[in-house]
Amino acid sequence: MPSTVLLPLLAQGEFCSGQALADALGVSRTAVWKQLNKLSELGLEIESVKGRGYRIPGGIDLLDQAAVTDSLGAQACALMRTLDILDTVDSTNAEAMRRIELGDAAGRVITAEQQSAGRGRRGRQWVSPYARNLYVSVVWQYHQGAAALEGLSLAVGVAVARALADCGLPPVQLKWPNDVLFNGAKLGGILLEMTGDASGVCQVVVGVGLNVRMPQGAATGIDQAWTDVHSIATDGAPSRNTLLAALLDNLLPLLAEFETNGFAPLRDAWQKLDAFSGERVVVHTPGRDLAGIARGVDERGALQLETTTGVQPVFGGEVSLRRAV
Ligand code: BTN
Repeated sequence: MPSTVLLPLLAQGEFCSGQALADALGVSRTAVWKQLNKLSELGLEIESVKGRGYRIPGGIDLLDQAAVTDSLGAQACALMRTLDILDTVDSTNAEAMRRIELGDAAGRVITAEQQSAGRGRRGRQWVSPYARNLYVSVVWQYHQGAAALEGLSLAVGVAVARALADCGLPPVQLKWPNDVLFNGAKLGGILLEMTGDASGVCQVVVGVGLNVRMPQGAATGIDQAWTDVHSIATDGAPSRNTLLAALLDNLLPLLAEFETNGFAPLRDAWQKLDAFSGERVVVHTPGRDLAGIARGVDERGALQLETTTGVQPVFGGEVSLRRAV
């Protein structure tokens, strides 16, 4: 019995007796008890009250294929080949890479309730507790080589910001090259991975992680200021299914248009969301640190860093940016 068989019965946050769960699933009380233990192992809080049964306090917001596809717009629907909602996976990006190796995977969307080895930028771990946040990877194919994809991660940031706005959330900011921030705290991250011909056809995995309702306990592994959708929502938080549909509605058409238009048409939109515009920053690159004033980005998505010797473009990759102290 997968964990998801028992979960929908407890998802509303109401008490359910052990017997009612056993009857609904057609299994023994012992089998139910074992499944409840598995849910605890996933990090879910299971409350047990004598005479009332079991519940997940506050309920749980599970991903649902139909809920997502039913609210997708026509454009995204036409561009999406498949939507896979996995229970647990090491990393949706790693899974997408494996699908690419198996054959043509362009247009596939892979999400999971939990990642056991979520990947962040620069080799970091991405904290991915069960059924709390969004972990999404989209596979897309491009034909003009890796160099033409320079501004793609910035473009994805614009899609994420638009999706959050479509869900009625207050405006977020973007930190070059690809963090989604709210009041300086990290709300989401973007990780692009590529395979194929560096100068021809390449497959790109666009990974987006969005903190939706991060449990405090899980967040001990995060080494920077963070926030989540539930904390920033002023008018009730959207469900994860609503957020996922809005993300795909914005992201899929943007990925398709990027092939022909590149980053240039999104430059203004990105600059309006820029969290560090006009600020003194230090850019850490593998070779050296560069200090200067962040002056937005150019048409390729390179950071325009104003240094003592003039404005110089800085490209993404293994680079990070910090406010100068
Ligand atoms: C960052 O470090 O800011 C990037 C984080 C990207 C996390 C997402 S979650 C979905 C996809 N799968 C992964 O393993 N990583 C990305």
